[in-house]
This record gives sequence, structure tokens and C-alpha cells, in this order.
Amino acid sequence: MSVRVLVVGIGSGVPGHLTGDAVAALEQVDVFLVADKGAAKHDLVALRSELCRTVISHDRYRFVEVSDPERGPDRERGTEAYRAGVLAWHQARARRYAEVIAAEVGSDGTVGFLVWGDPAFYDSTIRIVDSLTAYGVDLELTVVPGISSVQLLAARHRMVLNRVGQPVHVTTGRRLLAEYDPSLGDVVVMLDGDLTCAGLVSAHPDLEIFWGAQLGLPDEALAAGPLAEVLPGIQATRADLRAARGWVMDTYLLRPRSPGA
Ligand SMILES: C[S@@+](CC[C@H](N)C(=O)[O-])C[C@H]1O[C@@H](n2cnc3c(N)ncnc32)[C@H](O)[C@@H]1O
Repeated sequence: MSVRVLVVGIGSGVPGHLTGDAVAALEQVDVFLVADKGAAKHDLVALRSELCRTVISHDRYRFVEVSDPERGPDRERGTEAYRAGVLAWHQARARRYAEVIAAEVGSDGTVGFLVWGDPAFYDSTIRIVDSLTAYGVDLELTVVPGISSVQLLAARHRMVLNRVGQPVHVTTGRRLLAEYDPSLGDVVVMLDGDLTCAGLVSAHPDLEIFWGAQLGLPDEALAAGPLAEVLPGIQATRADLRAARGWVMDTYLLRPRSPGA
């Protein structure tokens, strides 16, 4: 017997973002494992349990919160130290999940992980689940895709991410300044708590930004226009959102105004 593990993309965590396959998967879960990231992120846990209450037709499932291991000071770390820190954190998380699965699920149950957006974009759940075998969990994994913040961003701005026949580059705030070059095509930036695109304004004055925060949530905010012009407004909106909710998640796309520039 092996534990069935379902990693399900839930978009922004609202019922309208779930695919039919995602709803069918949620119906099968006995135990949802959610990382407890402390008080500031508690409404993310609440959003997930509210989602399950709304879409699952029975009450034979449980939520188990697993305390998240301490994570190092990512910002100050260089790339190698960052990678090593994340790896150690994944292993610590996998060990905790394995212990909880052994204690709470048994060998023939179904475990669910609810993943914001799509599990394929900057999310470690699949990697961590893969490493559970090293901690003695015999499992069978199924991944159900969801609507990523990248897709939501494009939809909200009613745009195609790429120019005709051109590439799209997806990256993080941590890497943006070092790797930005107009030949990358359109650049989607995630995980950027500092709006590092501010550092591109003087070298690339023709850049436009298409920005979205809390996409799919009631306090969603959007902005678009020449980077230098709209950035101060985006910074102010970001600060307001953080003050009101305690956290902000935003994603943006950068593209040179002149095609082919
Ligand atoms: C750990 S990654 C997870 C990405 C997620 N798997 C996805 O498909 O969107 C977190 C980053 O995703 C983006 N993000 C997630 N949810 C968002 C939302 N509702 N609105 C805007 N950006 C979001 C932000 O860039 C955030 O820093």
C-alpha cells in the first residue's frame, strides 16, 4: 500500500479558480497538510479551509497544520548560500511532513497539498513530496494544475505575454537586475518584495510595466504604463496593501515600449 499524494493548484484560492479536475481531486483527500507560517500568514490558511468547506461535498477530511521550519535570512545570502539554505529548509519540511503522514494518515490514505496558483511556478511542494521517500514514505503522486498568478496577470491586463514569435522570460526579483536584457523579450517577475525593477529605470527608460497584486482576491490592484511614471504609484499601493492585510503578493511583466527594442 502506498499513500496517495495529490498536489492541487488552487489559483488564488477562490472556488471560481478551481478546475473540474481540482474539485474532483479535493473530494478524495483525507488529510490536507498545510504549512503553518505563523500569525502574519494565517489568513492564507483560513482561505484554504474556507475553499474546501465551499467546494467539498462531505466532511470526512481534516486539515493538519505543520509548523514550518525556520528559514534563513534569504536577502543577505549570495546565490550559492541561498540555494543551500533553501535545500536544507526543504529537507526539514519533508522530515516534518513524513512524521505527520506516519502519525495521521496511515499507509493507504490520501494526502492533499493545496498550492497557490500552479504547482509548476516557483513552488517547492512537488520537490518536497518527491523527497518524502527518503524519509520512508511510500507514495504515489498526482499533480493537478491550477491558474497561476502569471496567467491571471495576463488576463487582467487583457494581454498576450509574448510579442509575436518572441520569447517570455520568467524570473525572480532576486535575479532581475543581474540578468535583465531586452533580448530576453517580455520578462515576468515573481517573488519581488522590493520592486527591484526600480533599478532598471535609468538604463532602460523605454520599459513599460504591467503590474498586479493580490490577483484574484478582493483587494486586487492593477497598474500599467511607462515604468518610470507608474512606479511611485505602485510603491504607494503596495505599502497600503501591506498595511491593510499584513502581506502583499504581486507579479509584473516588463516589456520595452518599442517592439524589437
Ligand atoms: C512562491 S511563488 C508561488 C507562485 C504560484 N505557484 C503561482 O503559480 O502563481 C509566490 C509569488 O507568486 C506571485 N503570486 C502568487 N499569488 C499572487 C497573487 N494573488 N497576485 C499576484 N502575484 C501572486 C508573487 O510574485 C509571489 O511572490
